[in-house]
Amino acid sequence: MNRIVRKEYFSPQVVEFVVEAPLIARSRKAGHFVMVKVGEKGERIPLTIAKSDTEKGTISLVIQNVGASSEKICNLQEGDYITDLVGPLGRATHIENFGTVICAGGGVGIAPMLPIIEAMKKAGNRVISVLAARTKDLVILEEQVAEYSDEVIVMTDDGSYGQKGLVTNGVESVINREKVDMCVTIGPAIMMKFVSLLTQKYNVPTMASLNTIMVDGTGMCGACRISVDGKTRFVCVDGPEFDAHKVDFDEMLMRLKAYN
Ligand code: FES
Repeated sequence: MNRIVRKEYFSPQVVEFVVEAPLIARSRKAGHFVMVKVGEKGERIPLTIAKSDTEKGTISLVIQNVGASSEKICNLQEGDYITDLVGPLGRATHIENFGTVICAGGGVGIAPMLPIIEAMKKAGNRVISVLAARTKDLVILEEQVAEYSDEVIVMTDDGSYGQKGLVTNGVESVINREKVDMCVTIGPAIMMKFVSLLTQKYNVPTMASLNTIMVDGTGMCGACRISVDGKTRFVCVDGPEFDAHKVDFDEMLMRLKAYN
């Protein structure tokens, strides 16, 4: 059982939990995720590790309240325990000095993007972070992102903060003004699809961190399967990151809709 040592609301629907998990804090790398379950019969939910503190032995998980299971987790308080927390799972992000990297995060996808931004910066990249959300209140972790970014561009659908427009508008404005060597995108599947289509047009290699439904998180159930370059892949063990230009986003969106 893992104790929650801090709970903070980023917005009414988005909560950050700092949880005691010393072994995971020590071994996790950017891109890794954990499976979380609350209650003996609770549903297992994959959550990316946004931050970790090896000295305190804690990890930070950011969760959006979108349904019964996420609500159950969001209702936990400081001092409560998470019944099951398994990880780190998945493959770590491929980090190297690419040159100039755009990190395009949408909504709650900004949280799993944070460790990648940090790792890309530490590897010597020029990092331009494009953060997108529907409205000002949903732009999260801007300060922490800024700490490891050479530039932060904020886009909101309604123009209530930063520039008015979609994440793709922000990404395209950067590509049009300078050479970009790599793009990483995390957010809703539909957003990643359009970022991928855009970067494909400009021949910018792109990694997408996929957020499919997961059940076991260990490659056994097949719930997270997707098609990459015409081949079946499991997000939990082969991912969560893939070459975005090879991902069949339409199939992924169809499967997500079927689960809904
Ligand atoms: Fe079951 Fe990936 S979550 S195979």
